[in-house]
Amino acid sequence: MEKYVINGGNKLYGSVKIQSAKNSVLPILAAAVLTDGQVKILNVPHISDVSNMVKILIRLGCKAEYIGEDILIDSSSANCFEIPSGLAHELRSSIFLLGSLISRFKMAKIAFPGGCDIGLRPVDLHLNGLKRLGVEITEKNGYILCKCEKLVGTEIMLDCPSVGATENIMLAAVKAEGTTIIKNAAREPEIEDLQKFLNAIGAKVKGAGSGTIVIDGVNTLGSAEFLPINDRIEAGTFLIAAAMCGGEVELECTSAENISSLLHKLRENGCNIHIKNDKIILESSKTLTSVKSIETQPYPGFPTDLQAQFTALLCICKGQSIVTENLFETRFKYVPELRKMGADITVINRSAFVRGVDKFKGATVVAHDLRGGAALVLAGLAAEGRSEVLDISHINRGYGSFEYKLRAIGGDITRVAV
Ligand code: UD1
Repeated sequence: MEKYVINGGNKLYGSVKIQSAKNSVLPILAAAVLTDGQVKILNVPHISDVSNMVKILIRLGCKAEYIGEDILIDSSSANCFEIPSGLAHELRSSIFLLGSLISRFKMAKIAFPGGCDIGLRPVDLHLNGLKRLGVEITEKNGYILCKCEKLVGTEIMLDCPSVGATENIMLAAVKAEGTTIIKNAAREPEIEDLQKFLNAIGAKVKGAGSGTIVIDGVNTLGSAEFLPINDRIEAGTFLIAAAMCGGEVELECTSAENISSLLHKLRENGCNIHIKNDKIILESSKTLTSVKSIETQPYPGFPTDLQAQFTALLCICKGQSIVTENLFETRFKYVPELRKMGADITVINRSAFVRGVDKFKGATVVAHDLRGGAALVLAGLAAEGRSEVLDISHINRGYGSFEYKLRAIGGDITRVAV
């Protein structure tokens, strides 16, 4: 067990290099199981979600290892189609392997996945999509069992634009017979990135980034070296940190386009934002003002993965705001913790009513999930006095070198063993 100890109040100045996107790297790692070729993924963050995915690949018989900031995978020796509960429970993205395993072995057995406890998180859309491709699915003793003679392309209409279901169906369809069309597909940039990677190893996928994705099945896939897009959620977290603490921070290697919904809101808060090629520079304002309301939406709307961090910022803005979480049922678990730090927030159903206070006060708080945990760290950095954020294993899932990067721009934050 580890915790962060934070002495708040420092302004943040300097430059932060953004890592490859966790949510791109994870499905790409799953996609590597589809090919016997060698795959090298570049600039990968050292985070526990990725190291757990690597462990799963090794368990499946693949060779997979970090070499510095890159990961090298050779799946030619993959010989297992089962992911036991111990590993599947470590991360939700283990579910992506269903598409890859059924494609490769025509069999897959996987325990129901774990991940952040932020709501019900069903997998019905994943399973319905695979069924449409010809997969027979049974559920027994906490396991999903899949088998098929062959996968045959078809049209699949998603009831809602689920990121994971879109990616899983793409992975299963890449080597299916004929053409698969996914309608009402999720449009997140990470899906476009998965398409780029799949095409780099020889697949024929088009349309990602729009609501309709068309996949023409191919027989074989090859090798590739691939640099995923940068992590828009990590980038957003550092921008919000700078807005909350004051100062001026420059993000290197970031697509402003991918977080334009956040940038609009930060400008409404009073921050100055400049964009120069792949750099975003945020200069905070002495008088941050609230935004009236904000709702999480699928891309290109405001991302649910920045909801907690942005709510923390609203807590110290002048005025009142309403934050509505439309994607996940229990994504306000960090609210009682922020209240310990002086926040004035009331949650009613899916909305948080925030009344701005002057400052956070240092306190001991508990991280209950990844993004909620990040929000508590930001509150601690902006607070008056000393804070402790406990149970930071959740934060380790998504932010590589978090405290190093924050310290490099002036944050007083230390990781301490408990
Ligand atoms: C992915 C991201 C996660 C992000 C989320 C929404 C990864 C590894 N994780 O998660 O960081 O918060 O997108 O942007 O990329 N749903 C169903 N049935 C299903 C699947 C989803 O009802 O079979 C619902 C969910 O309950 C939720 C909504 O669809 O309300 C969106 O979930 P989804 O897009 O699938 O999120 P994830 O892929 O789990």
